[in-house]
Amino acid sequence: MTEKMIIAIDGPAGSGKSTTAKLVAEKLGFLYIDTGAMYRAITFAAIQNNILENYEAVIQLTKNSEIKLQFNDGITKVFLNELEVTEEIRSPLVNSQVSDISKINEVREELVAKQRKMGEVGDVVMEGRDIGTVVFPNAQIKVFLTASIDKRVDRRVKEYEDNGKSVKYDDVKHNLVNRDIIDSTRTVSPLLKAEEALEIDTSNLSIDEQVEKIVKLVEEYRINKQKV
Ligand code: DC
Repeated sequence: MTEKMIIAIDGPAGSGKSTTAKLVAEKLGFLYIDTGAMYRAITFAAIQNNILENYEAVIQLTKNSEIKLQFNDGITKVFLNELEVTEEIRSPLVNSQVSDISKINEVREELVAKQRKMGEVGDVVMEGRDIGTVVFPNAQIKVFLTASIDKRVDRRVKEYEDNGKSVKYDDVKHNLVNRDIIDSTRTVSPLLKAEEALEIDTSNLSIDEQVEKIVKLVEEYRINKQKV
């Protein structure tokens, strides 16, 4: 029997994490878990309840919320207390608030505990900001994806346009740069490359090339395991 594995994929927004992680999971028959969607779901709920400024209330809300992720046919459906919020968690307002909500230590503790539980089944590709450093520091495979800011903005703009939404390049850039600063400088589990993670700059790679690199890492890991 082959060892059950965790593949941790971290990196900034627009680095290609989601697309890559989904395809790697499909290729290997692994479960795909988008942890950003969980921080987004809590942010959406905080906006709905008008408690963005009240961290204590946001912490309680996180403790009392049930978040379910359902991955099917390339799409993660997100449910918050049984209510589908897949579309709502990608709104510009959530984009602009999610990094501030993600800074709250107790919110992270709650969500990290949920993520560890979700990953317990094994054979999982989990993507986020702190998967290789905090959530699964013992993950067998750790990857840190990066890309130039211009490439990342281009990708996000295209993503919106493909979904029939028009956005301004400068607005998207401003949001990405802002989130990078908050995500990388927060005191609790900042966006950080795990020492042993393989860094892949995706600026000039095709999706297939990115996916292939990670699948190869897994194959090499399995071959090396067989040798010992
Ligand atoms: O991956 P994303 O852009 O959907 O993530 C949204 C935000 O959630 C991101 O700006 C920071 C936060 N996040 C986090 O702090 N830790 C994670 N593991 C995943 C996301």
